Amino acid sequence: MAAAEGQWVLMATGRSPTNIAVIKYWGKRDEALILPVNDSISVTLDPDHLSATTTVAVSPSFPSDRMWLNGKEISLSGGRFQSCLREIRKRARDFEDEKKGINIKREDWEKLHVHIASYNNFPTAAGLASSAAGLACFVFTLGKIMNVKEDYGELSSIARQGSGSACRSIYGGFVKWCMGKKDDGSDSIAVQLADETHWNDLVIIIAVVSSKQKETSSTSGMRDSVETSPLLQYRAQTVVPSRVLKMEEAIKNHDFESFAKLTCADSNQFHAVCLDTSPPIFYMNDTSHRIISLVEKWNHSEGTPQVAYTFDAGPNAVLIAQNRKTAALLLRKLLYYFPPEDKDLSSYLVGDKSILGDAGL
Ligand code: ADP
Ligand code: DP6
Ligand code: CO
Repeated sequence: MAAAEGQWVLMATGRSPTNIAVIKYWGKRDEALILPVNDSISVTLDPDHLSATTTVAVSPSFPSDRMWLNGKEISLSGGRFQSCLREIRKRARDFEDEKKGINIKREDWEKLHVHIASYNNFPTAAGLASSAAGLACFVFTLGKIMNVKEDYGELSSIARQGSGSACRSIYGGFVKWCMGKKDDGSDSIAVQLADETHWNDLVIIIAVVSSKQKETSSTSGMRDSVETSPLLQYRAQTVVPSRVLKMEEAIKNHDFESFAKLTCADSNQFHAVCLDTSPPIFYMNDTSHRIISLVEKWNHSEGTPQVAYTFDAGPNAVLIAQNRKTAALLLRKLLYYFPPEDKDLSSYLVGDKSILGDAGL
């Protein structure tokens, strides 16, 4: 390192998509390690519309670690960013770039500081899982620059310590976060259930009801639920385990009827837990409820589910259509009931799990 006389800057940029849970994580059994009270399953979204892009720069001339999110400096002093930085630095390896005269030894990484700039191409802290994309990208890009060679399972376990949902964004496609049993969290990792190419017919439409930052962060909301909601314990111990098994089967067999029923039921139960929290947490609003009614009525009138809905910790609707034809119909219905000039709905994002398309509309 000394050879370069501290004049160099090394940079790496990464991009990670967000993911939306179809079986929700809500509640920790260990706050510091971020260990959940139940397994969860998600679908990773299309990065062109919903992702974080993070650039990490390293230089001997940086006196401290610093971070900017969407152009504004934020503090890195929080325990979560520190945990991820520590875990990645621990696994850093030698790095050499002969042309630039850079030679970094494994132990040098402890002394080198980073500057990190991240940008989300979708609303931050609005219930579209920005912490999932953001912290997965943070870990992934730091790992790249520090020449970390750990497998994705290990990276997911580090991302988990940044934000629980982030462990699932390390993979594309359908992903399960296994809650694990061990107290040290080493078995609380994400695994890919099926890759991006699986179940390509599905189209995801996100109705952005509000891009405003939510009042109750996921972290504090679920802490209050763990402390006060009796329904949460019942959900984690009795309901979710069998739902997870059924959801895995539904995904494997492209069984949209089961997939949609489980997805909607789990979203509704998660929001019921929020209402069961004291004081109650209201993530959905009237517009969210109107979207649920629209989908429920449509599914009921067809006799079989056409569309699944799910809402994270915010009012924005994630709608999953069985195929492109249904997605086109859904968008037409949404535009009719919530026209673009309507103050209730600011925009729509249309995409799918893997390749961005215009959904044939
Ligand atoms: P969301 O529903 O969007 O995940 P959360 O309350 O879970 O909302 O988390 C929002 C927090 O996640 C932000 O306040 C910020 O600390 C962190 N975050 C979001 N995006 C990024 C990013 N790109 N890089 C680093 N941290 C991020
Ligand atoms: C409703 O992962 O944002 O989106 O672990 O405290 O950072 P922390 O919380 P976070 O919670 C996500 C909750 C959820 C459901 C889910 O993604 O499974
Ligand atoms: Co989050």
